[in-house]
Amino acid sequence: MSQSGANFVVTVCGDAAEVARDAASRITQTTRTRDDRCGRFTLVLAGGSTPKAVYRLLADEAVGKIPWEHAHLLFGDERCVGPEHADSNYRMARETLLDCVPVPASQIHRIRGEDGPAAAASAYNRVVSEVLDASEDRVLDVVLLGVGADGHTASLFPGRDFSADAGLMAAPAIAPPASPVKDRVTLTLDCLGRAQRVMFLVTGADKREMLARVLAAAERGGDPALPASMVRCERGVEWIVDMAATDR
Ligand code: 6PG
Repeated sequence: MSQSGANFVVTVCGDAAEVARDAASRITQTTRTRDDRCGRFTLVLAGGSTPKAVYRLLADEAVGKIPWEHAHLLFGDERCVGPEHADSNYRMARETLLDCVPVPASQIHRIRGEDGPAAAASAYNRVVSEVLDASEDRVLDVVLLGVGADGHTASLFPGRDFSADAGLMAAPAIAPPASPVKDRVTLTLDCLGRAQRVMFLVTGADKREMLARVLAAAERGGDPALPASMVRCERGVEWIVDMAATDR
């Protein structure tokens, strides 16, 4: 079931497993089409726990369907820890996807969180710019995102001074005290806005109230206090959610 808002479409799936299958199908279709057209594609991976099921599907069922050797993988954000740290988004992606698919190591663009937020963000700003420069029409083909209980996405948290991100593709971020790791690096709204497709993956009853607030804010044009509502992309943001997370 789908419903459209001002600049987004919500697809309601029966459960989290169906969200994962739907997202994996869209990712597979888009990456194959893009690869057929220009021989490469970019996929921005989300952190957190929700995307794990999608990554496992892409690793297990879509191998051979996605031309992984032509993939350029980026990360929407990273905690400022090493790649083997339990809280590393890279480690989560490596364990659920990267160790299972033949993406050349030089095409997996990890955020070097261990270098600290300023240095890692500055370096990743260059990396993202180089990946965009090398891609046709300077777009990110698919960006995966989640939404936190406070309305954050990637590591764009409520209270952020978005004006400081102007012209940047990646920037330092500070997570709220309750977060697993305070110092972060995040893609900026300007960068996320370069996506051909943005797919938010939201599951579970604990996200229901926040998802409703974020979608209502997005319909009003976005609210900086709910950063997930600020994400835009040319063809409209796609929300892939389960029934537990919405009353739509
Ligand atoms: C992170 C993620 C973050 C995540 C949301 C939702 O580094 O934690 O990038 O933005 O997507 O917090 O997380 P869950 O999928 O675990 O609910």
